[in-house]
Amino acid sequence: MNFEKELSNKVKETDLCVRSFLPESGKYKELIVESARYSVEAGGKRLRPMILKESFQLCKGSDFNIVKPFMAAIEFIHSYSLVHDDLPAMDNDDYRRGKLTTHKKFGEDFGILAGDALLNHAYETMLNAILSSYSNGYDKDIIFRMNKAAFVIAGKAGIDGMVGGQSLDVYLTGKDMNKDQLEYIFNLKTGALIEASFMAGGILAGADDNTVDDLCLAGHLVGVAFQIQDDILDIYGSEKELGKPVHSDEKNNKNTYVSLYGLDAAKKAVSDMSVRAENILKNIGDNEFLIQLVNYLINRTK
Ligand code: IPE
Ligand code: IPE
Ligand code: MG
Ligand code: MG
Ligand code: MG
Repeated sequence: MNFEKELSNKVKETDLCVRSFLPESGKYKELIVESARYSVEAGGKRLRPMILKESFQLCKGSDFNIVKPFMAAIEFIHSYSLVHDDLPAMDNDDYRRGKLTTHKKFGEDFGILAGDALLNHAYETMLNAILSSYSNGYDKDIIFRMNKAAFVIAGKAGIDGMVGGQSLDVYLTGKDMNKDQLEYIFNLKTGALIEASFMAGGILAGADDNTVDDLCLAGHLVGVAFQIQDDILDIYGSEKELGKPVHSDEKNNKNTYVSLYGLDAAKKAVSDMSVRAENILKNIGDNEFLIQLVNYLINRTK
């Protein structure tokens, strides 16, 4: 398999899927729709929806029409989290995905509202899929899976998920932070949505509870490794390649994995966690691309 080529094809395919669920504009709502679409249309790696689909395949799911709305929803939630993360009250950053941040482009008011719109649109997209599955004649079991996937995504986006992680992150900005608090933040602000992506893919494919637990652990490991690498790239990465500013953490007096443990330990943690995640996934089933994707994240530069 030529991984790079396959990755680029899958990013394109995922991108098309996500865009197909974006809200449509209309009279008096031009600005809110434009600002909500802006961050999603700016691009991004589309990692979470891609993981969701690959996890579905790993668990032998076959009807891709079922996963598409959930792929879009997780990317909308992720994009909203970035729009709000960049706001002046949070990390106060001017560039994201190679473009001006949403609040820089549309104003702070529309930065807040665009995030709100994306979050609500994510739930609307999932609930609409569940509702239409009745008229599409899906059986009870599939509708139950869709319900469960939506519930998991909602939970992992909330207080015991991304929002909870972001909350402790901003609360402790500029204050002393211990390792337990750092772990809590990483598990939730970044780990949770990646866990949700792995889990929702498995749930939609009909995986049993033990397998979904294993997917959650793999997601946790990938997610935390991903955030550690993000902290490394904030210091050593290139703004051009990342499409967002470097040294944002230093500017904001953030504690990071690198500031608490040092660079060598950070690199080792990324690689150890990724290897553990790969082994868990190999035990669940056969998806060479997903394994290579996890491996690719270890050395990512964007
Ligand atoms: C950025 O996520 C925020 C973190 C959780 C570190 P990504 O690096 O996946 O951002 P995009 O989607 O590619 O822009
Ligand atoms: C992750 O943390 C943010 C979210 C969960 C949205 P960061 O604040 O480090 O993310 P970047 O570096 O701005 O993408
Ligand atoms: Mg932040
Ligand atoms: Mg940030
Ligand atoms: Mg960062």
